[in-house]
Amino acid sequence: MKLQDTIALVTGANQGLGKCYTEEMLRRGAAKIYACGLTLESLEPLTEAHGERIVPLKLDVTNRADIAAAVDRARDLTVLFNNAGVLAGTGLMEAGSCASFRHEMDVNVFGLADMSLSFAPVIEGNGGGAIINMLSVASLANFPPFGTYCATKAAAMSITNCLRYELKDKGIGVYGIYAGLIDTPLIRDFKGEKSKPEDIAAIAMAAVEDGVADIDTDARARDVRHLLGGDPGPLQRIQHEKADAFLEMQG
Ligand SMILES: NC(=O)c1ccc[n+]([C@@H]2O[C@H](COP(=O)([O-])OP(=O)(O)OC[C@H]3O[C@@H](n4cnc5c(N)ncnc54)[C@H](OP(=O)(O)O)[C@@H]3O)[C@@H](O)[C@H]2O)c1
Repeated sequence: MKLQDTIALVTGANQGLGKCYTEEMLRRGAAKIYACGLTLESLEPLTEAHGERIVPLKLDVTNRADIAAAVDRARDLTVLFNNAGVLAGTGLMEAGSCASFRHEMDVNVFGLADMSLSFAPVIEGNGGGAIINMLSVASLANFPPFGTYCATKAAAMSITNCLRYELKDKGIGVYGIYAGLIDTPLIRDFKGEKSKPEDIAAIAMAAVEDGVADIDTDARARDVRHLLGGDPGPLQRIQHEKADAFLEMQG
């Protein structure tokens, strides 16, 4: 999937990884990026730096009206980048209720799912393109201090695999990006070795252009996958073949 001349929408583009992905896609020749933020003011630095190729949109991925307005506006879209995410920084018992877990699910899973449901027909109508989902090593294994967040990222990975199957005949490639700790506001309070978000964005976008579906962007992602026994791609492909057989049997 070449990014040259694509028209993309990035959620959570105002800071952190979303801002770096937006700038990396512009460097790779994207024609226009609908850069989304919870407020228009938060997007002003991006617009000032990059001019007309940035179209700022107010978009809360948990708000159906915002999503409908974005679909109306971005009718020329070819690439949807589900980047927005929240992290409560707690386990379940530690939290003592499901309140923050529900919010993480709403943004990290249902937000991604609602955006994909809404924009897949737009992308298909424009001749195909891509949906890119920002996942995590947290999708692959649970780290209890961020336990509920990991549960949402595992669900986001699973729905990414579901979308990959359902959209494969519609000309829409579905990509998942995996990384360990990255130096962004999301984890500013946590100590530890962190990758630079610009580096992750450059590695991930190069891999999308090379057609790599599951993208491990750093050593942590590669280590976790190695400990899990390697690439889950073959197993997932078997699941997709089984799905074909199952659907055929159902008539
Ligand atoms: N940092 C890491 O170590 C790491 C590692 C692996 C994966 N990730 C994932 O990478 C993605 C980007 O995170 P980041 O590290 O760049 O964190 P970040 O700097 O906190 O950025 C998160 C972005 O999501 C936006 N956002 C939050 N709630 C939203 C909602 N309801 N609707 C739309 N946008 C919303 C935030 O807007 P505001 O700025 O207005 O709050 C912000 O722009 C997330 O999916 C995260 O889970 C991060």
